[in-house]
Amino acid sequence: MELRRIGNSDLNAPILSMGAWAIGGGTWWGENDDDISIKAIHKSLEYGVNWIDTAPVYGFGHSEEVVGKALKDRRNKAILSTKCGLQWYNKNGSKHFSKDGYHVYRDLSPKGIRRDLEYSLKRLNTDYIDVYYTHWQSVEPGFTPIEETMNELMKMKKEGKIRAIGASNVSLNNLKEYIQYGQLDVIQEKYSILDRRIEKELLPFCESNNITLQTYSPIEQGLLTGKIKAGYQVKPGEVRENKTWWLPENQKLAVDMLSKWKDLTEKYNCTLGNLVIQWTASQSTSINVLCGARKLDHVEENVKAADIQLEATDIQRMTNDANEAIAKSQK
Ligand SMILES: NC(=O)c1ccc[n+]([C@@H]2O[C@H](COP(=O)([O-])OP(=O)(O)OC[C@H]3O[C@@H](n4cnc5c(N)ncnc54)[C@H](OP(=O)(O)O)[C@@H]3O)[C@@H](O)[C@H]2O)c1
Repeated sequence: MELRRIGNSDLNAPILSMGAWAIGGGTWWGENDDDISIKAIHKSLEYGVNWIDTAPVYGFGHSEEVVGKALKDRRNKAILSTKCGLQWYNKNGSKHFSKDGYHVYRDLSPKGIRRDLEYSLKRLNTDYIDVYYTHWQSVEPGFTPIEETMNELMKMKKEGKIRAIGASNVSLNNLKEYIQYGQLDVIQEKYSILDRRIEKELLPFCESNNITLQTYSPIEQGLLTGKIKAGYQVKPGEVRENKTWWLPENQKLAVDMLSKWKDLTEKYNCTLGNLVIQWTASQSTSINVLCGARKLDHVEENVKAADIQLEATDIQRMTNDANEAIAKSQK
């Protein structure tokens, strides 16, 4: 599988990576069989999709624990990313959300992220993290300047506890500030064929500054696999609740868009999800496509996207169809 260097770090990652949010379960995703999650991670590593992404808040520690179990005897085979700055241990920082009885605060203070790192290392059963992200950026009233956060992250890197620094859910100004105070190798942002906000500023900036852009929710949490029929009833509290493309009127637009690509699935001998994942990877050599999976058949299916070479005219056709769906959704 094609490898792309993560920013200016010494890490090389395949163009696809595996997200372990759903592995955390809880009301966002529903309960899981952890043994199946572990098998899915192992399968992903076997296929060479070895960048595994998690975060403390995914299942409030559970995703990290399961990833830790999966990597116990094969830690050196994985590029492991986790995150800091969303915490539920005290009220430091600024309130972000409440879920499953936990009250989560954005806290990127040096003390806060140091504690987060130590907890993550324990749950993940490892003594280093390959890519360490700030999960959501600091805001008032519990604001920490990026300079202070970055100084602490650079210290962690010097100590060998983290190998590369990343930031997630950033603005262009955040990004400019990060690179002023240290080496930022990657950002993690929402991007799909139906959600293209990063194309305007963040992606061009990453391209010019050799920063990898790892895209999350590229298949709109399963909607763009073509397996969802319009009219799917989102359960209260589930992760898809209130997500733009899961609103009933938009689901139909997405499903109609996908239905136009049957000939492409035949031409490339692949699934609709594969087309969408490869479209995402094709947008820039700075992109790494982070796809969530907790089931073996999803891992097996998604990996096939890496081998497809979409022709430029087909990429353009998909872009045009998506633009049409986006325009209709905004009417
Ligand atoms: N930095 C951030 O703020 C942030 C935010 C969101 C996500 N992330 C990261 O990005 C990763 C990916 O994003 P995401 O999980 O939100 O969205 P996603 O990758 O678009 O969707 C993942 C979900 O789609 C379904 N799916 C995957 N492959 C499928 C297939 N072949 N056929 C049918 N359904 C399939 C699965 O749902 P079921 O398991 O329910 O079937 C899976 O959990 C996360 O795991 C997490 O690591 C980061």
